[in-house]
Amino acid sequence: MGMILQHYQIIHLIAVMILFAGTGAALAGTDHGGTRKFGAILRGVSLLLLLVTGFGLLAKLGIMKSLPVWAWIKLAIWVIAAVLPVFVKRKMLPGTAAVLIALALGGVAAWLGIMKPF
Ligand code: HEM
Repeated sequence: MGMILQHYQIIHLIAVMILFAGTGAALAGTDHGGTRKFGAILRGVSLLLLLVTGFGLLAKLGIMKSLPVWAWIKLAIWVIAAVLPVFVKRKMLPGTAAVLIALALGGVAAWLGIMKPF
């Protein structure tokens, strides 16, 4: 299957949706039908997909030689998104704060990817 830029863009966006749905499920207070476990699985899959498609996009766009600052910031956001639920589990952060931080970081990640500002 020949992957074109738009394929990476679509999978990148689907991965974003899975990440946020999964994070919501993982942080949910209840665990009816294994919601939290399912959320954790969705988070793992989506984080992997985000990284793979993120670098696929950089390659397709021809900006792999030296990573621009915004791409490094997106990588940092990816790391924070990956560890956020750990802070909640260790009671270092309330779940509500983690959700708000995740949303803010998601907005910044979208802005960085679309505007490529620096
Ligand atoms: C939490 C992590 C991330 C979120 C929420 C996120 C979100 C987004 C969104 C909403 C877009 C705009 C849609 C599009 O242009 O296709 C985008 C574009 C992009 N993202 Fe991400 N992203 C994340 C992580 C990453 C990572 C780790 C990389 C690689 C370093 C990356 C590389 C890109 C690139 C290169 C684009 C531009 C695509 C284009 O102009 O065609 N992203 N991202």
